[in-house]
Formats: sequence, C-alpha cells, structure tokens
Amino acid sequence: MSGNIKLQICDTAAAVATAAATAFADLIRTRPEAVIGLATGSTPEATYSEMARMHKEDGLTMAAVTSFNLDEYWGLGGDHKQSYRYFMNDRLFRHVDIRPWNTHVLNGKARFPGLECRSFEDRILAAGGVDLWLLGIGGNGHIAFNEPGSSVDSRTRLVSLTQETIDANSDGRFFSDPSEVPRCALSAGIGTIREARALILLATGAKKADAIAAAVEGPFSPDCPSSLLQDHPDCTFIIDAAAASKLT
Ligand code: F6R
Repeated sequence: MSGNIKLQICDTAAAVATAAATAFADLIRTRPEAVIGLATGSTPEATYSEMARMHKEDGLTMAAVTSFNLDEYWGLGGDHKQSYRYFMNDRLFRHVDIRPWNTHVLNGKARFPGLECRSFEDRILAAGGVDLWLLGIGGNGHIAFNEPGSSVDSRTRLVSLTQETIDANSDGRFFSDPSEVPRCALSAGIGTIREARALILLATGAKKADAIAAAVEGPFSPDCPSSLLQDHPDCTFIIDAAAASKLT
C-alpha cells in the first residue's frame, strides 16, 4: 500500500534540503504567523542552513512563526550540547528572527513528564494546530521517538529508546558512546503528528532505503511507525535517489 504519500525524489541530498526549505519558506511567506513543526538529527541540518541563508539573503522573516519540536532526550537540559533544544538553537533559531518564546521544545528536565507532555499538546492546540511538520525517519522506521509498536493514536509521552536508535545516535555524529545516550525521551505521539495539516518527511542515503520502502509500500502497521502516515491527506516524502533505491 502506498496510500496518499506523495514522493518527491531528488538527485542529491542538497536538492532535498533546498526543496524542504523552499516548502517552509513558501508557507511562511503566504502565512507569516505559520505554526511549524521541526525535527532534529543529521538529515534536516542542511535544510536549516538553507532556511538561515534565505533569512539572511532573501528576506525570509520568521518573526511571527511559532515552532514545535518533535522530541527531547529525557534528563538533558537545554544547555546540554546533545539536547535537542541546544541543537535547534545552534542549527536554526539563532540564525533567524524567530522569537525564542515562540519556539517550543519539550523540557527534558521537567519535574513531571506527564504534565510537560500535556502542556505541549495544549500549546499546539492553543496555537491552532501545526500547519506543516518536518519529520525524519529512523533506520527502523521510527518517526520522532515513536519506536516500532507505537500506536497510531499515541500522544506526547515519555518513551523508551530501542537499542538500534541508541546505537544509531552514538556513531560519533552526536554521542560517541552508547552509554552516553539517554534511555528515554519525551516524544510527540503518532496521533499528535498525524494531526498536523501537512507533513514533509526527509530521508537521504542508502541507510534509509529499507525504512522508506517499508513506510511507502509496506503494510499500514505499528511495526513501521512511518507507515502510519499512509492515510494522511497531505504527506510528502522528499528523499534522495539513494533513499529511494528500494522502492519498486
Ligand atoms: C529527531 C527525530 C528522529 C530522527 C531520526 C533520523 O527529532 O525525530 O526521528 O528524525 O532518528 O535521524 P537522522 O536524521 O539523524 O538520521
């Protein structure tokens, strides 16, 4: 089944970044007070660089934009270099004119995780919902930190990371040893993500090819959390040729 997922296959990872940044810039130019969802990880880094360039050189303003991030490691504060709050400040927020108080990243040091997750969902509702949410995909098909087995209607919550995700994030790009990676995270749920009015999922490189094939052509199943986007009314996968190489 491929459902409604639209595919945009680019020759290179650089072209993926340009296409994704252009989609966000088009939205923000049409609707300056847009509510956007963001992701962390290696894949969106080039997209954020391109958005920063568009701000600096093409007059893109994010002054009225509100953002929500997918997830945060449990136990890491925003001053920790591997926290997703730190990542977002470093890769995007400090390079553009988004107002810090309009950027919502779950607090990995919240005293009560359940209350923090509820408040995150409430803030999305109060903002009027997310117009366009950027996603990455794990090698095991995860979206945000919704690991295989996560339900289609899951909400923002405290989750455990799989060993595969811990290993993937300690290959030297972020953490250098698996023992440094937090075992848990706060993550937007699949139900939370599915409520965004539009979704763009990015994938680059051959390491993502199996996950992309399972998400697009496999069954609609919690075994591959990204397959649970197949019935979303406006979901586009922007991927490079290597990530598309196992599609039939
Ligand atoms: C990060 C996130 C994760 C990543 C995924 C891919 O906010 O939600 O699902 O998108 O693990 O990470 P990279 O891009 O580093 O391969």
